[in-house]
Amino acid sequence: MNMRILGAGMLGLTLSVAACSSDDPAAVPVAPLASDADGAAVYQARCASCHGEDLRGTDRGPSQLSIVYEPNHHGDNAYRFAIRNGASQHHWNFGNMPVIEDITDDQIERVIAYIRDEQERLGFER
Ligand code: HEC
Repeated sequence: MNMRILGAGMLGLTLSVAACSSDDPAAVPVAPLASDADGAAVYQARCASCHGEDLRGTDRGPSQLSIVYEPNHHGDNAYRFAIRNGASQHHWNFGNMPVIEDITDDQIERVIAYIRDEQERLGFER
């Protein structure tokens, strides 16, 4: 009996991990994320599936190195807002950005700091 419950729990875990496998580009990542995960880890878990592991975009979302996301065009508040509320398609043709689930305010601040650092390090695409 107990084994059965354990088995079902493990199956659920396997499925949620499989759902964020990079083999399935349609999956929005829902992998568990440590509350103290650093900005890079938050980015890879919550943003990379659409904005690209290297920030340069995918067929599901725009490059974060586009000049459109330069801080004077999209300030940090635009990031906070997009993560909490999603973003309707308006700059591109990728569709809407969904609300990002399972992310804390601290993780949001860390992921924004990570993206800003990477934008500075890699430079904007022109
Ligand atoms: C399921 C795909 C998807 C995921 C996951 C995703 N985004 Fe997006 N995001 C998009 C798309 C598509 C757009 C472009 C909307 C447009 O302007 O047409 C976008 C736009 C944005 C914008 C611009 C919003 C605006 O005001 O124009 C920001 C900032 C952004 N994303 C940050 C992030 C961050 C940070 C994460 C991770 C925490 C993330 N996104 C996760 C798809 C995604």
